[in-house]
Amino acid sequence: MKLYELTDDERINYLLKNNYINAKQADLLRSRAPLSQDLADSLSENQIGMFGLPYGFATGFTINGKDYVVPMSIEEPSVIAAASNGAKRIKNSGGFTVSVSDHIVYGQIVLESITDDTLELLNDNYDEIIKLANDAHPSLIKRGGGVRSLEYHKYDDMLEVEIGVDTVDAMGANIVNTILEKTSKKISTMTKCDVLCSILSNSGAGQLVNAEANIEFEQLATRSMSGQAVAERIVQLTTFAQKSVKRAITHNKGIMNGIDAVILATGNDFRAQEAASHEFASQSGQYQPLSSWQIINGSLHGKLTLPVEVGSVGGAISSMPMAQLSLAMMGITDSKELRSIIGAVGLANNLSALRALVTTGIQAGHMSLQSKSLAVSAGAEGAEINLVASKLNKEKNYSLDNAKKVLKELRNK
Ligand code: MEV
Repeated sequence: MKLYELTDDERINYLLKNNYINAKQADLLRSRAPLSQDLADSLSENQIGMFGLPYGFATGFTINGKDYVVPMSIEEPSVIAAASNGAKRIKNSGGFTVSVSDHIVYGQIVLESITDDTLELLNDNYDEIIKLANDAHPSLIKRGGGVRSLEYHKYDDMLEVEIGVDTVDAMGANIVNTILEKTSKKISTMTKCDVLCSILSNSGAGQLVNAEANIEFEQLATRSMSGQAVAERIVQLTTFAQKSVKRAITHNKGIMNGIDAVILATGNDFRAQEAASHEFASQSGQYQPLSSWQIINGSLHGKLTLPVEVGSVGGAISSMPMAQLSLAMMGITDSKELRSIIGAVGLANNLSALRALVTTGIQAGHMSLQSKSLAVSAGAEGAEINLVASKLNKEKNYSLDNAKKVLKELRNK
């Protein structure tokens, strides 16, 4: 039986039996109570309840020779299916190869009304400023992190002190903001300049991930199109995205479908990820697709390079039981491993979307998965949901009116 044919409880048992989760984590999933009231209160002001998103997992990921199931939280029915589908085609061709850079988070201290000698003063105190910044977060040094770069950039009468910090396994926003605020006070005294603000930059320039895969043509074939023809059309569509910004945006949306779902499931900051992804896509001056697809030596080669701004410890990640469950499900040992998985998921979702677009179009698969939620919107309950959904799939008529009509007929039988 396929995983999608099982009940949710059977899927939980599958994860338990295969040691992806433990008994306590299985109970947490079955409880459908992801956060205690106290924790919810501590995470958000004016908290009044829980906003639910489906939580599931994608399968078939072989990344740098290691197999993973990948937790994803998302409301769009086709995203987990697309991730597993893309991953399986890549696994059958040898899997993903992913490399990740160090984890450098940049921060800015902005000085205003600088004088002629401000820059000179800062240059004279270069080592002292690095020391001040490192002393601002001693536990980071103990964990192997710390300041890795210090640069000054002048903008008219304003000056930016840009500090690059290796935050090790933490996403790093709090660490860097603490370092900046403490250091900025001393810099202000040193230079006698006002500090306009001190804040991290969500630029992902120091946190790049590169995910690649070769896909054999036979993995791409459909009933009516050869694998080579599909591969050529995928290359063609990506070339089009390099020229058309409107297409590049949607191309990247398909990549972010998978990436955001893992980011949500691991309690990470999806707003930071979105900002960094789109900055990276725009760096040439024209918004570009984040992935490229080429035919190399008789197979389709995909490459996705983007910043991945996540941590595997700290903040909500450490306090939210579901985030901990997600990390355990993947057997994450450090943030580099999590960033690798996220890069691979982006490439898998991209492959599935492009393959569907250049062959049957996405609506066939999309709508047949959406039919269940359409049935629920029409009022179907329990066993009615599958019955209504399969009638909608058979008729290929996916309007809400039709779903209501089908439900009414079913109940009148
Ligand atoms: C839908 O959520 C994502 C796609 O539009 C992505 C794409 O067009 O590449 C299918």
